[in-house]
Amino acid sequence: MKLIAGNWKMHKGPAETLAFFDGFEAPDGVDVVLCPPFVSLEAAVGEDWPIYAQNVHCAGDGAFTGEISAAMLVELGVHGALVGHSERRQYFGESDDSVRARAEAALEAGLKVIACVGESEAEREAGLTESVLARQVAVLPRHADLVIAYEPVWAIGTGKTATTEMVQDAHAYIKSLHDTRVLYGGSVKPENAGELLAQADVDGALVGGASLDPGSFAAICLAGSRS
Ligand code: PGA
Repeated sequence: MKLIAGNWKMHKGPAETLAFFDGFEAPDGVDVVLCPPFVSLEAAVGEDWPIYAQNVHCAGDGAFTGEISAAMLVELGVHGALVGHSERRQYFGESDDSVRARAEAALEAGLKVIACVGESEAEREAGLTESVLARQVAVLPRHADLVIAYEPVWAIGTGKTATTEMVQDAHAYIKSLHDTRVLYGGSVKPENAGELLAQADVDGALVGGASLDPGSFAAICLAGSRS
């Protein structure tokens, strides 16, 4: 079964979160996950779908202003967390080591994890895609509840999608390093979801912009249920 995860990033407070769920219906035959901002998690966990946070700290508690622990998410009824999103790496200084620590803490607390990896445009142009992916994947725990999302940084929020061949090649490479489900992320929309999800090693999608509208996210979930 394909897994379709919606990453709302810094969009939708609690009221908009509830409005989304009022208008959202997912078909059978696909696993659906939504990742609202922290302040909207409590509103979202009352709904029918597994809810993941967009990040999680590695410590149980302590002097880490602005961070949220895995135990706090579990207490709220949250099912999992993203870790290592490229925006966290790019704008908030997260490293491979901190991504590893966050993933380990989340798994230990019983959360599921979607760990994001992906090369920048400059790295792809320099022929470094595989070495970057190898470095990022090497630190990720081997665990049944960890899924990897391949998100080429240059394809996120830019409208540029990787070609299906690039996606299939990167997914096959990641699976040769880590035996887990691999989702694709980067400008996935209803128009391209079917073709991307038809690739042999694409096990689902991590959707940003197109997950904000219940109709377009439902259309991507439908493509997932058919592939
Ligand atoms: P996008 O974002 O679908 O808006 O490109 C994907 C992501 O960052 O997870």
